[in-house]
Amino acid sequence: MRVIETDFVIVGAGIAGLTAALWAAQHGEVIIITKDQAHNCNTALAQGGVAAAVGKNDSPELHLSDTLSAGAGACRPDAVRLLTGEAPQAIQTLLEWGVQFDFTETGELALAREGAHSLARVLHHGDNTGAEIWRTLYQKLQQTAGISLLPHTYALELSLNQGCCTGVLAEFQGEITHFSSRGVVLAAGGCGQIFGRTTNSSPSTGDGLALAWRAGAELTDLEFIQFHPTALDRGSNPLFLISEAVRGEGAVLVNSQGAKFMPAYHPMADLAPRDVVSRAIVQEQSEGREVFLDATALGAKFARRFPNIYRTLVGYNIDPLHQPIPVTPAAHFMIGGIKTDSWGQTNIRGLLACGETAATGVHGANRLASNSLLEGLVFGRRVALVLARLEHARPLPQPAEFPGAKALDPGDPRLTALQDTMWSKVGIIRDGHKLEEASRTLLELQAGAEDFELHNMLQVARLITSAALNRPESRGSHFRSDYPVSNLAWQHRHFVPGRFSA
Ligand code: SIN
Repeated sequence: MRVIETDFVIVGAGIAGLTAALWAAQHGEVIIITKDQAHNCNTALAQGGVAAAVGKNDSPELHLSDTLSAGAGACRPDAVRLLTGEAPQAIQTLLEWGVQFDFTETGELALAREGAHSLARVLHHGDNTGAEIWRTLYQKLQQTAGISLLPHTYALELSLNQGCCTGVLAEFQGEITHFSSRGVVLAAGGCGQIFGRTTNSSPSTGDGLALAWRAGAELTDLEFIQFHPTALDRGSNPLFLISEAVRGEGAVLVNSQGAKFMPAYHPMADLAPRDVVSRAIVQEQSEGREVFLDATALGAKFARRFPNIYRTLVGYNIDPLHQPIPVTPAAHFMIGGIKTDSWGQTNIRGLLACGETAATGVHGANRLASNSLLEGLVFGRRVALVLARLEHARPLPQPAEFPGAKALDPGDPRLTALQDTMWSKVGIIRDGHKLEEASRTLLELQAGAEDFELHNMLQVARLITSAALNRPESRGSHFRSDYPVSNLAWQHRHFVPGRFSA
């Protein structure tokens, strides 16, 4: 087997992976591997922005308090304090690196309001914030010595010796390669593609989670999947997102009878937490009413403030200045993931995780809007500080042969069955009966799955379903109609031990 030695391997090239690479390059050579083109990631699709307490009337304490209340009692407060406390510095760094955030006419950073924030605190670049940040980080990476980015390189398994992570086995240029390193960072994003409706990029199949679990890493909070209320109800996965910032600017949800229904569901109406808005939409849909986002009151401002959304809608023959936009909820963010401490360390020495793949405890049971790009920036930097102190553990000899990754066939009926099962039985409204049914279907599907990516997706789907079954209450993004209220006895995180063989 081919061996490539380096100091650090980072799996994933979104905001968390690139940030970790840029800081880690000060301490050694970095190889980033990513299974598709580097820019095909959730970061580049993120529209709304980055939350940070940089406004006049804001403070990290207020940001902390909003994050904790959105998290519905399941956050790790120490981790949230770090997140909100380090946010202003992370923004300062982005500005120094060249990110073009929008400014007001009076020269202050322009701030938008999103759901469950008590004031406007979301920095943005039009409605293309993630793409702007990704472009800047990527440019900086190209100017930084000691970082190589290998696209179309698929991580298959972690290599271990005596409980230490010693590298990654990956398919690189058609050859199985052992990237041997003193530190591995999993920053492989989320798993939205396991659901029939998602806003997530096509590579978001939960590989990082599956790899870590097989290697024995502890996972947590898997039952918490965040559904975004307003994806465009046209086309196929990934569904195009209609940013929450559109509601922040005054757009309102209406049903096919023209009623503004959100005030009947929550005092914050259209800016209620995402789980509340998503369930309200599902309720309307289940009673036979279609749901639309009416942004016509914004007038011409819509096209100026949301040029990307405007262009895309026009491409679908929808004129948002004059007609309401058809919307539906869709799986948007994996809150749970690989359990880490506040430095991104897992229970395996040498294995770190950050970004959506990791569960640092900052999101609790429900992520506050625009805290995810922030998480990638803050914890991407923190993992690099741990990498700096790691020493090489001697790798074991690797097997001469290792099965390669067979490409996922988008037309595979098992993929459709997986996505339909997860959407209809492990989606926005769950119950024990549907979850049991989903468990059985997923087990049957897994029996025949040789394809590596599909196998990972099924493994992650089974872990999520079992975590949802094992939480007999409703909290944040996890709603069970058979246990519709929160139970104080369950106000804790829910750990899943890693498995040691595939
Ligand atoms: C959005 O723009 O609505 C998405 C922002 C986020 O998911 O944090």
